[in-house]
Amino acid sequence: PAFKATVLTLFPEMFPGPLGHSLAGKALKDGLWSLETVDIRAHARDKHRTVDDTPFGGGAGMVMRPDVVDAAITAAHPGEGPLIYLTPRGEVLRQPRVKALAKEPAVTILCGRYEGVDQRVLDKHNALEISIGDFVLSGGEAAAITLLDAVVRMVPGVVGKTESLEDESFETGLLEYPLYTRPQVWNDVPVPDVLMSGHHANIDKWRRQQAEDITRQRRPDLWSGYVAAQKQEQEGQ
Ligand code: ADE
Repeated sequence: PAFKATVLTLFPEMFPGPLGHSLAGKALKDGLWSLETVDIRAHARDKHRTVDDTPFGGGAGMVMRPDVVDAAITAAHPGEGPLIYLTPRGEVLRQPRVKALAKEPAVTILCGRYEGVDQRVLDKHNALEISIGDFVLSGGEAAAITLLDAVVRMVPGVVGKTESLEDESFETGLLEYPLYTRPQVWNDVPVPDVLMSGHHANIDKWRRQQAEDITRQRRPDLWSGYVAAQKQEQEGQ
């Protein structure tokens, strides 16, 4: 496969989960990418298979032991591509990082449970820390599935020509315009006239206007970037 993912987790049964269905699932079956899981607990050394312990210095919760996590990483890490640790403390995931990861031959993803992982093992392996957003999940597994869903669809051949990646939100810099399909009148609400006109230039103009309005209202941060990029383009001409 062009892209190999290895997930280190205490819950290997959570995978492939949603990644076994739809677009990612088809690509997995087609051999465009591969998914392996490593059960971190299999690398515990004592008879109770202990993977965590209390934090030095006190505080709530449990910390994953560096020796156990290190053994799992060493067993799994193919030496190709980055080791990613999912944590709310990480770099917030955006489309440019997603695209860069899709160009790697492989990624290894470490999912934390409990309060987190001993810092020394993250430092030792120079882990790339990534967050999927400013909220707290109960563990890294749902984040790993989210990250892989986003990355796999950027692997060449996974998304077909018809789905086209070019007019997506984080390519154009705008949120997407609203969509309509049959029936033409539903719940007493008709589809906007312009979409029924067959006039493609007007349709493009209307969609662009909608995308701009929605982006300005909902995402002033994206809007600023878009305005700046437009200005750059004007100056370049
Ligand atoms: N683990 C817990 N919360 C997370 C988040 N927001 N992103 C990535 N990993 C996490």
